[in-house]
Amino acid sequence: MSARFPVARPRRLRRTSALRRLAAETRLAPADLVLPMFVKEGLAEPHPIPSMPGVFQHTRDSLRKAAHEAAEAGVGGVILFGVPAVKDAVGSAGDDPDGVVQTAVRDLKADLGDTLVVMTDLCLDEFTDHGHCGIVTESGHIDNDATLERYAAVAAAQAAAGSDVVAPSGMMDGQVAAIRAALDAAGHPELPILAYSAKYASAFYGPFRDAAECAPVFGDRSTHQQDPANADESLREVLLDLEEGADMVMVKPAGAYLDVVRRVRDTVDVPVAAYQVSGEYAMIEAAAERGWLDRERAIDESLLSIRRAGADIVLTYWAVEAARRLGELRTGR
Ligand code: PBG
Repeated sequence: MSARFPVARPRRLRRTSALRRLAAETRLAPADLVLPMFVKEGLAEPHPIPSMPGVFQHTRDSLRKAAHEAAEAGVGGVILFGVPAVKDAVGSAGDDPDGVVQTAVRDLKADLGDTLVVMTDLCLDEFTDHGHCGIVTESGHIDNDATLERYAAVAAAQAAAGSDVVAPSGMMDGQVAAIRAALDAAGHPELPILAYSAKYASAFYGPFRDAAECAPVFGDRSTHQQDPANADESLREVLLDLEEGADMVMVKPAGAYLDVVRRVRDTVDVPVAAYQVSGEYAMIEAAAERGWLDRERAIDESLLSIRRAGADIVLTYWAVEAARRLGELRTGR
């Protein structure tokens, strides 16, 4: 008898939903989620982004309202991206004290205080007329060190406005050290840096570039963002950023780079974030719209998988929806 039947029965723990919940190895909480938000200067009405159904370029007012909803859902934080009214070659709007991001930060901090973390993406691509993340030389190259000086100025402006965390996403060498020094010199030694340390030159950023109006007018970002072929390189980038003073590190995109998330998690002892980017969002939304996927299950599975791979913090455009669903789960949906 016993020889004919298996002794080990992993299915015992899968029998009921209550058992499955008790035995789950991975849990996701609203506080783990960060919502990326877009705010555009001079906009009269919120503007829907066609390639990201449900995501908007916000007006100053609609941003406040949406951030309020995020706080109510228990989301851990928001990260702000700004679209200025005027762009130029050096991205002057990025460090204008009254620039679109600085204004938005002051609004949200005044409204929400400490109920959630207000982060600011720190880059130049939304502010430059050529759409590149830095200063472009005459030959069309991105000048690393000239760009660092601009990042330092943007960091000081975001800090002065009250940002809780600055998140440099430009992938310039030495950017974390330059920003740390600028923050310290400006009297903000307590302000943390979330470094986009392992950021790949990815096709999955497509819809974002519509939302942030920052597609490069020539060339691409492959001289500064990482080659998708490389994973060891991510560990070098992460360790460099930590040496330079990063307080948290990020892997981006998330879904196609879960191996990198896991390796980073196993290597460092700071919080690890992963960014589920615009293209990951668009793929599931588009398939669900056609009835090809169960939308909610696909969203929840994608988020849980990023967490299972080792991310402590997940940046996702579904943050509010997912947080509400997690809230329901906790109270026994
Ligand atoms: C650069 C930046 C990008 C994203 C976040 N920060 C775009 C890029 O590097 O081209 C992409 C986010 C997304 O696709 O959701 N400031």
